[in-house]
Amino acid sequence: MGSLPVQTTFDVDDVLSQLTIAEKVALLSGIDFWHTAPVHRLGVPSIRVSDGPNGVRGTRFFNGVPAACLPCGTGLAATWDADLVRKGGALQGAEAIAKGASVILGPTTNMQRSPLGGRGFESFSEDPYLAGALSAATINGIQSTGVSATIKHFVCNDQEDQRQAIDSIITERALREIYLMPFQMAQRDSKPDCYMTAYNRVNGTHASESPRLIKDVLRGEWGFDGLTMSDWFGTYSTTEAIKAGLDLEMPGPSYIRGHLVNQALGCGKLLVPDVDERVREVLKLVKKTQALGIPENAPETTIDSPETSAFLRSLSSNGLVLLKNNHNILPLNKKKTTAVIGPNAAYASYCGGGSASLLPYYAVSPLDGIRKQMPEAKYALGAPAWKALPLMTRLTKTKTGEEGLTMTVFLDPPSVVHRKAIDEVFVNKSDILLVDYKHPLIKTSLYWIELNGTFTPERTTEYDFSMCCAGTGKIFVDGELVVDNETHQRPGNSFFGSGTAEEIGRVKLEEGKSYGIKVAFGTLPTMTFSSPGTTGFGAGGLRVGLERKAEIGIEIERAVQLAKEVDQVILCAGLNSEWESEGYDREHMDLPPGSDDLIKAVVAANPNTAVVIQSGTPVTMPWLKDVPAILQAWYGGNETGNAIADVVFGNTNPSGKLPLSFPIRNEDNPAFLNYKSERNRAVYGEDVYIGYRFYEKTNKEVAFPFGHGLSYTTFDITDLSVEDDDIDIFVSATVTNTGKVDGAQVVQVYFSQRNPSLNRPMKELKGFTKTFLKAGESKTVEIVISKKYATSFWDEARDAWVMEKDVFDVLVGDSSANTPLKAQVTVRRTEWWTGL
Ligand code: BGC
Repeated sequence: MGSLPVQTTFDVDDVLSQLTIAEKVALLSGIDFWHTAPVHRLGVPSIRVSDGPNGVRGTRFFNGVPAACLPCGTGLAATWDADLVRKGGALQGAEAIAKGASVILGPTTNMQRSPLGGRGFESFSEDPYLAGALSAATINGIQSTGVSATIKHFVCNDQEDQRQAIDSIITERALREIYLMPFQMAQRDSKPDCYMTAYNRVNGTHASESPRLIKDVLRGEWGFDGLTMSDWFGTYSTTEAIKAGLDLEMPGPSYIRGHLVNQALGCGKLLVPDVDERVREVLKLVKKTQALGIPENAPETTIDSPETSAFLRSLSSNGLVLLKNNHNILPLNKKKTTAVIGPNAAYASYCGGGSASLLPYYAVSPLDGIRKQMPEAKYALGAPAWKALPLMTRLTKTKTGEEGLTMTVFLDPPSVVHRKAIDEVFVNKSDILLVDYKHPLIKTSLYWIELNGTFTPERTTEYDFSMCCAGTGKIFVDGELVVDNETHQRPGNSFFGSGTAEEIGRVKLEEGKSYGIKVAFGTLPTMTFSSPGTTGFGAGGLRVGLERKAEIGIEIERAVQLAKEVDQVILCAGLNSEWESEGYDREHMDLPPGSDDLIKAVVAANPNTAVVIQSGTPVTMPWLKDVPAILQAWYGGNETGNAIADVVFGNTNPSGKLPLSFPIRNEDNPAFLNYKSERNRAVYGEDVYIGYRFYEKTNKEVAFPFGHGLSYTTFDITDLSVEDDDIDIFVSATVTNTGKVDGAQVVQVYFSQRNPSLNRPMKELKGFTKTFLKAGESKTVEIVISKKYATSFWDEARDAWVMEKDVFDVLVGDSSANTPLKAQVTVRRTEWWTGL
């Protein structure tokens, strides 16, 4: 494809009037994974889109150009700081420009119905108000740079199980009050340029071809006049999707538009105006992004800087939530001897898995972060907790001594004796998704790869080698076959559900000896089975792991020994990008095998133990009562380890609050019976009672409530006053830092209708603000809340929002379970409304 010099502008109507049908049809689909189609003769360039939502990866999953990684959605939301989150959006905008992208595929604005959601970490909150406010903040930040945001996935992609087929069966009321509300708020407060439709169906119709959702609600009621695109391979029809208002099929090349649109035009199922309406939106977006001045096929660059690092460090540390801190175990005293123990300590779990993942500029592990502030801290693994073995590339070397492997690409299988390599690439991450790997000689998705390197063990012991793949593959160590994922393959979750289970082979190796490693791989078409609904993975991919054999019992014993020798312990446990990823949900809410036993044993050995949990969504904590201090640290992006160390040592006073409830057990959560796809359907049986709306209503004990988070200081909230002018409600209160350290508190405002004409939640968050206070300082905070949004519910009888004539309690406090201050607001006349 030739490229076009940067255009400043073109006239949409003019271009539309000159386009041929073929050009119009081409504009309705991407040309590859990340680019729209150009029409060079009329000055319309191709523009680039890039994932979101916690950083901008650029055009390559495989060997991508490094990027800034922000904390995951729940980690961002835990800051409860819209201004900080807006700045995070602006950073993403700048990163997009560096990657030559005009459009970011984010934020993710779905809801955590269950703790098990594979992509729960990407979304902000179980509460629609918090999710809406932070989606709008992100979009405002991104779009302040001129880059377009794509709010996704519209709507009800709240589970991964059978995500393309599943039908979210939901009442109109729950759809409006909970699942559409954050999108509605984002539309009202930030006007995103693009929407990405969800994979799933909603009440029988796929979101990408739902006239109700796209035409009536989004474009009609909310007045959206931007571009809608499908999720990747989530356009399922030609005519219906276009008629419903879906502008862009992604990715390309088209599999369901192209000549099928011609066919539909030919037989009259589609009319030219149907196509024109969609093309107009594509042209409008391209035109709008031209102001960025990004050339077509722009090179991808990096803009890492000390300022970015400092910002990411504070963004991450501000979202850390101190769940528990008996006897002020935290912050730790730097003068005491310290051990860092646990599966998450030496590995940087900086990001969840799937399309949110990216190659970071760098990633600081908790152990590295802590050792920067306390170099003498001791370390023990404690228990392995990986779902798939850690990547091989961190332990292997190439011929030239670089840490990684050399990848050689062939058009012929290994059986062809003198086959010729067509490409040689250095690989520093042995998790290789080939969808966006390109080479001029590769014309189909069938080809072969070899990875080569050497491995020199640090100990004489047994080592585990592993491979999962979308394709077929084998691992050889010094010529000996150690893993065979070719002759017997088992379906698994890898590669968005299109790949195999992980096959592991064990071999004893000697310390100091250099072993030759060879990985032979055939791309996806060679796979011995195929999974339904996983179109589009082209050449597939492979993931290769290597780790010394680690047995839980022995590792725990070593950790206990170490814990006994030191004054205090930081125990880092949790999940990672394999446990929480795309294409599958978590199977249970527990930590990986061995972790609970490790925590119990270490706390018993040394009561001065603080547990740091890294996960995007809640985990069970059967040791909750025994552990004196717990810090929830999410996936913190590049600065993960530094942010944890800052809070652990008290450089940063924690001020994060939970953006979702932490139930005691998964069985306690309101979606428990209705979460998995049951023959392609999920009934949203909990209705509007998601998260704390359920726990408050049923008075069910939780491990930690929504909004909860401690500090190293204490606060008082007093002097609540509430006034209203019938449009807005003005809530004010005085916040005082009553302790000895500077810190920040979040004032949370919940509404409760006294005598509703139907069942309503006891409390619903409708406003919040975070305020920083020096020790001893007092401030008055004011929160302005839209009266109709704060008081209304969705009236199914009228298909409209209603604010009923009634008295509403305004409940103020510092978590959903602690709202001691109370005032009233009155609605004097029942009124119905629609729109924004
Ligand atoms: C995800 C989207 C993402 C897209 C492109 C899909 O699998 O659901 O969120 O933007 O891939 O990577």
